Amino acid sequence: MMPKQQQDATAMTRKTIKVSIERTTNSQSEFAVPLYDNQTVLDVVSWVQQNADPTLSYRFACRVGMCGSCAMMVNGVPRWTCRTHISKVLDGDEVTIGPLRNLPVIKDLAVDMDPFFDKWVAAEGFHHGDLTRDDPIAAVDETSAARVTANAGIECINCSVCYAACDTVAGNADYLGPAALQRAWTLLNDAKDEGRATILDAVSGRGGCHSCHSMGSCTAYCPNDLDPMTAIAGLKRETAKAFFKRGRSK
Ligand code: SF4
Ligand code: SF4
Ligand code: FES
Repeated sequence: MMPKQQQDATAMTRKTIKVSIERTTNSQSEFAVPLYDNQTVLDVVSWVQQNADPTLSYRFACRVGMCGSCAMMVNGVPRWTCRTHISKVLDGDEVTIGPLRNLPVIKDLAVDMDPFFDKWVAAEGFHHGDLTRDDPIAAVDETSAARVTANAGIECINCSVCYAACDTVAGNADYLGPAALQRAWTLLNDAKDEGRATILDAVSGRGGCHSCHSMGSCTAYCPNDLDPMTAIAGLKRETAKAFFKRGRSK
């Protein structure tokens, strides 16, 4: 361990950064925060809350990119703050941190995620099963094209980074958004899900997959390297096929 005198000298010479926080209250919004090695944006926010202003509100849980609760706007870009090193995003010695875009702000950096999750439900983004516990478990062919497609979106952690990045969400309150639609696509390709017609109906209406402009911000910003834009393209194809099929059978 470093001797006390040396620790004091290090603390005195430690570089500080200027952190601006977009807040809902009139509280202090600019802070000088000491810079440490391997410091994340979430560490910076936590330092402010623990050392400068205990009233600062924000949300996190796992700190390792698994829970999806720490996303914020960092210099205008949506990011997982726990997996973003401050050194990678500093603009000179400054950084601006704000609440996630496209969601109502509860206080300071904490947003209300209800609209995001409500849209998962509206997109039928939950399992539709029709087996009972007495039925045999259906075999899943891991190598089938459908399973490979379903697996492509399965690691979504509901962080809402893609939702914050999407300009269509910003301009159309009804749009279901990239994460909910990607979830619908995953289920559509899941051999164990029985909700095909219900899902296609849910995603083809107002605010559904056809509202997507295919600009790809969702895919560009997803920190998990998922590809909602391609998933939504799949939904567009399948909903169009279902539409024409219904027309022919009339
Ligand atoms: S698709 Fe990516 S960015 Fe969007 S909610 Fe899932 S993990 Fe987050
Ligand atoms: S591709 Fe579609 S879902 Fe993705 S950001 Fe653009 S409009 Fe939103
Ligand atoms: S704190 Fe869980 S993903 Fe960042």
